[in-house]
Amino acid sequence: MKTHCHRFSLLFTVFVFYNLSFHTVLAKDTRQTYTYGKASRDGIGKFYKGREISKVMGHLGASWLERPKREQEERTDLLVKGLDLKPTDHVADIGAGSGYFSFRMARLLPKGKVYAVDISPQMIGIVRSKMAKEKVQNVEPIQSTITQTKLKPNSVDAALIVDAYHEFSHPLEMATSILESLKPGGKLVLIEYRMEDPSVPIKLLHKMTEKQAISEMKTAGFKWEKTLTMLPQQHFMIFRKPQ
Ligand SMILES: C[S@@+](CC[C@H](N)C(=O)[O-])C[C@H]1O[C@@H](n2cnc3c(N)ncnc32)[C@H](O)[C@@H]1O
Repeated sequence: MKTHCHRFSLLFTVFVFYNLSFHTVLAKDTRQTYTYGKASRDGIGKFYKGREISKVMGHLGASWLERPKREQEERTDLLVKGLDLKPTDHVADIGAGSGYFSFRMARLLPKGKVYAVDISPQMIGIVRSKMAKEKVQNVEPIQSTITQTKLKPNSVDAALIVDAYHEFSHPLEMATSILESLKPGGKLVLIEYRMEDPSVPIKLLHKMTEKQAISEMKTAGFKWEKTLTMLPQQHFMIFRKPQ
């Protein structure tokens, strides 16, 4: 009996110390991940790897996202084609906004589905209204948080982020959560306006360099596969979750 009690208290002590040190490391990492400074006009004063995070686009921007000229300006048709989706794929549209890409992808997935993930209840409301109006059944709106996609682990074949990652207030936590939701070998396509190109008429904090994006995704555990150059204004960056 005495030996059992002794073993138990030893195990308990190890358990407590393990947890304490684990949480200390986590707390330390979180403190070191981001730095803080004076916010610029379009930023939140929080920096990740030297990049200032942009303010979030509110739901009032939905009409801009749905503007008729968008397809021609950004060649969104080429973007969707470049995703190379299979009819059975389950795809997450992270920072889906009004669902511009969710609905275009859903048409290509007769046996699959799209998770339209967004932190904004108003944007999720817009997606729901469109689903009802257009009688679409293979889009599932998901109200996420600033750090969590709320998708099931290892559940999606591909994830798409268009013009949204630069405004994630917790980019490392979000990228980690997306990585968890992907099946092993699953694909993340990250679309951001090209910072390297001064002729792209977009606010600076809404643009990213390819180098910066690759560095941030690698830190979360993604493998960079390639960057496609067919879009007129944006990088089309393909990453994989390691097998
Ligand atoms: C500029 S809109 C882009 C919408 C859509 N991807 C498109 O291209 O039409 C960015 C969206 O990201 C959402 N967002 C911001 N932070 C987020 C986060 N941490 N997780 C999920 N969505 C987020 C915003 O609510 C907004 O709807």
